[in-house]
Amino acid sequence: MHDAIKNYEDVDSWKTVIFLYNAALKEVGTKLEILNDEFQHVHQYNPIEHIKTRIKTPESIVKKLKRYGYETSIENMVKYINDIAGVRLICSFTSDIYRLGEMIGNQSDLKVLSIKDYIKNPKESGYKSYHMLVSVPIFLSDSVVDTKVEIQIRTIAMDFWASLEHKIYYKFEGNAPDYISRELRECAQMVAELDDKMLSLNDAIQACLVDESITDEKERLDDITANVIGGRRSDKSNEIIGK
Ligand code: GTP
Ligand code: MG
Repeated sequence: MHDAIKNYEDVDSWKTVIFLYNAALKEVGTKLEILNDEFQHVHQYNPIEHIKTRIKTPESIVKKLKRYGYETSIENMVKYINDIAGVRLICSFTSDIYRLGEMIGNQSDLKVLSIKDYIKNPKESGYKSYHMLVSVPIFLSDSVVDTKVEIQIRTIAMDFWASLEHKIYYKFEGNAPDYISRELRECAQMVAELDDKMLSLNDAIQACLVDESITDEKERLDDITANVIGGRRSDKSNEIIGK
């Protein structure tokens, strides 16, 4: 039998850490699905296209600790690695990203520890995404343990770029020739333009739909009015005939 976990000072085994981060992923994943369902229910629109969750592999955790200059220990990994539990939210439009960010920030049981807005300030590579580091309380049998989760929010287009760039960079182990980095930055620019275009197209479509529904509503009211007036007229003509 393991001792009960009270906080991270009691966490001394890899299994326990992973158990906590898995619980945090489930909590945050469910929260986000509920937010998406609520949005669909209220506005008939899904801001989230899809949600990906993952736990960092032991190899990447050790690699990152080494890169940061820390010894491999449970304590260091909990303290210094912020993305052991990671959630990626893929949405349709840039506007959805900020809407989701705000909705996440408004969740009273989530603590926002930091925000990195790589959309307003893209990385040197051209990388764009909105990162939120949050902590979520995990309710255990006799304690509550706050656990960190990194949430990355990006559009489908940003995700397309980031996935390919990651693959290409991985192949070059970070030492890609200059012209490749340059071309990747150009692709990032094209992706950003595509996002802008899609957003304005969506705004135009929404405006058309509003106009259409106003026209439909006007036509419906006109029909009702015509029926009522028409009805009265025939009542009157009946009266006249009756007289
Ligand atoms: P690490 O970059 O993870 O060491 O930590 P950090 O504190 O610098 O965090 P940052 O927010 O910069 O990046 C965290 C994560 O964002 C990474 O693990 C990647 O998933 C993603 N990311 C950041 N920069 C890039 C990039 O240039 N290209 C791609 N494809 N992904 C990136
Ligand atoms: Mg980084």
